[in-house]
Amino acid sequence: MDKFISVAIDGPAGAGKSTIARRVARELGYLYVDTGAIYRTVGYHMSLMGIGPKDRDGIERCIDDVNIQIDYQDDGIQHMILNGQDVTELIRTPEMSKMASGVAAQSCVRDYLLDMQRSLARTHNVVMDGRDIGTVVLPQATVKVFLTASAEVRADRRFKELTAKGEQVKYEDVYVDIVKRDEQDMNRKIAPLKCADDAEVLDCSQLSIDQVVAEMKAIIRKKASSHE
Ligand code: DC
Repeated sequence: MDKFISVAIDGPAGAGKSTIARRVARELGYLYVDTGAIYRTVGYHMSLMGIGPKDRDGIERCIDDVNIQIDYQDDGIQHMILNGQDVTELIRTPEMSKMASGVAAQSCVRDYLLDMQRSLARTHNVVMDGRDIGTVVLPQATVKVFLTASAEVRADRRFKELTAKGEQVKYEDVYVDIVKRDEQDMNRKIAPLKCADDAEVLDCSQLSIDQVVAEMKAIIRKKASSHE
């Protein structure tokens, strides 16, 4: 049995994984790992280099130049440091969502990041969110949850998040981006977004954040109590 507890939270874009996972991790005193931010950082590097998300040769050529550090500062935010530069804010744009989804379909990128994610779980109690955590990254995770919600609810939440940040976006565009990203993440050949056979499915379309957090903590308590 592993020494540390790992909570794998997978699900489609905009289901609220990061909000929920961050809160659950804080309340339990676990490390929160947002793996989407790692793919976004790779996507950001490729766009700086002028490399498109489908340019496999270009991505393979440049992937070894990507040096990513995750810095956990007192503000509780997972800071992403790319080759010495803090890119935490720069990766949170609709453009970088598309870049991340594109580069994430490349096997060299997934291989490159696998070890980084696994080593965090080997050394800490973690709540890790992403698309393939319960299926590929941590198939032996103590707890697996698949967090989902309807595309309309997810687009509405993402729209409100972006407009609150002052971004000028249309709801229809956000909805189309979410649906396209789901398709791309679910239909790629390597490590597609899918629910692990042994995951608990939590549909949060009709639930408040507090309700999802409470539900998630109940699932974790139940599973972790049988973990030694
Ligand atoms: O969770 P997010 O929206 O920040 O993720 C951005 C993209 O990264 C997402 O569309 C797919 C990819 N991703 C992935 O393929 N595997 C993960 N474990 C996390 C994210």
